[in-house]
Amino acid sequence: MLQSMPKELFRSSLPVVSFGSSHFRTAVLVLSAILVVSAPRLSWATDTPGAQDGAAAFKTKCVACHGPDGAGTAVGKSLKAPDLRSEAVQKQSDADLATFIANGKGNMPSFKSSTSDEQIRALVMHVRSLAPKKKAEN
Ligand code: HEC
Repeated sequence: MLQSMPKELFRSSLPVVSFGSSHFRTAVLVLSAILVVSAPRLSWATDTPGAQDGAAAFKTKCVACHGPDGAGTAVGKSLKAPDLRSEAVQKQSDADLATFIANGKGNMPSFKSSTSDEQIRALVMHVRSLAPKKKAEN
């Protein structure tokens, strides 16, 4: 019963597709062109707001110690920077991480004089995005 459904749908949709006049085909072409052009932007729109800013700021301010993936560079490790993807870091609240980035801690420098609150929030989101993806989110 259920298995015969898709075949039925397929057959009934075939005439509609092949019926296409040149107008119809032009419309399909235009529509798919619009989709192709706007698809990357649409996917950004569903991304966390500020994620791009966070990634850019992370690259300029944080990568030297934490590395592009948050694992930590040789320099970072020598300063005892933790793996930002680790549970120990990720389990902390956004507010804690934001305070931490603003004020620094141990060998980690303070960023509040060079970084706006908004940018710090974006950095926190970026740190979150480094965490290994949970199965449920896929
Ligand atoms: C000069 C090297 C250096 C730079 C640059 C740096 N960090 Fe760190 N970071 C550290 C060190 C060292 C620690 C460990 C501090 C401690 O716990 O004593 C750390 C820890 C952290 C932690 C973990 C905090 C915790 O307690 O769980 C976060 C989050 C973090 N850094 C984010 C950032 C962000 C975001 C930037 C860029 C704005 C950045 N770091 C730039 C060295 C650095």
